[in-house]
Amino acid sequence: MSASTSGETAQEFYGRWARLYDLIARRTPGIPALRQRAAAACRLERGDTVVEMGCGTGANLPYLREQVGPEGTVVGIDFTGPILERARDLTAEYDNVHVARGDATQPPVDEDVDAVLATFVVGMLEDPAGAVDDWCDLVGPEGHVVLANAARSDEWYAPPVNTVFRAIVVLSTPPTTKLRYENDPHLRLDSKIDAAHARLRERSRAVADESHVFGVVRLTGGRIGP
Ligand SMILES: C[S@@+](CC[C@H](N)C(=O)[O-])C[C@H]1O[C@@H](n2cnc3c(N)ncnc32)[C@H](O)[C@@H]1O
Repeated sequence: MSASTSGETAQEFYGRWARLYDLIARRTPGIPALRQRAAAACRLERGDTVVEMGCGTGANLPYLREQVGPEGTVVGIDFTGPILERARDLTAEYDNVHVARGDATQPPVDEDVDAVLATFVVGMLEDPAGAVDDWCDLVGPEGHVVLANAARSDEWYAPPVNTVFRAIVVLSTPPTTKLRYENDPHLRLDSKIDAAHARLRERSRAVADESHVFGVVRLTGGRIGP
């Protein structure tokens, strides 16, 4: 497999902040609508199987469940134990939503998969484009892959939004105790996100490209070509 993360640090970080992260993930204005849109961009049919890579506390899982119905299957994969426990608790009412601990770059999946969703994850991977390639291969031709990520805004009101965005990235990029970075983390994040979205566009025949939440969140969804 082609991608990995600086696993331990990220896992410790998200494990420690699981509750707070969950609050932000579910309650930030604009984010619930984005999650609904991302689930719709997976173009799922009832009975389909969808895998969410790096599902975190599971904020997308109910929206995916809505798309596949009770006869479909939703699998959430994350490598951070405490985060995943929260996802498990919050989806316990559905018997067709499963969460599994594993690496999104080597997903523990053996069934046929119709769509893959990854929101706010590729920026944490060492080789985001390689991971997108693997996810495209997993769903195969006619399957869908959808990415949503926060990156700096290109809108006219960008300067203040980007300043806030940069502060959030610096504060939330593990390890937070490190106050000086050799490369600005928001620039590194931007280039990883660009690479992942560009690879998805290359691999797709039909593409949805949208921006949300003041232009800070980019959503790319693609139907994979032959
Ligand atoms: C910013 S959170 C996003 C969570 C969720 N997708 C959401 O939209 O709220 C990133 C998540 O990706 C997980 N993650 C990062 N790299 C991973 C990897 N290689 N394998 C599995 N999970 C990973 C982290 O544990 C964390 O829960």
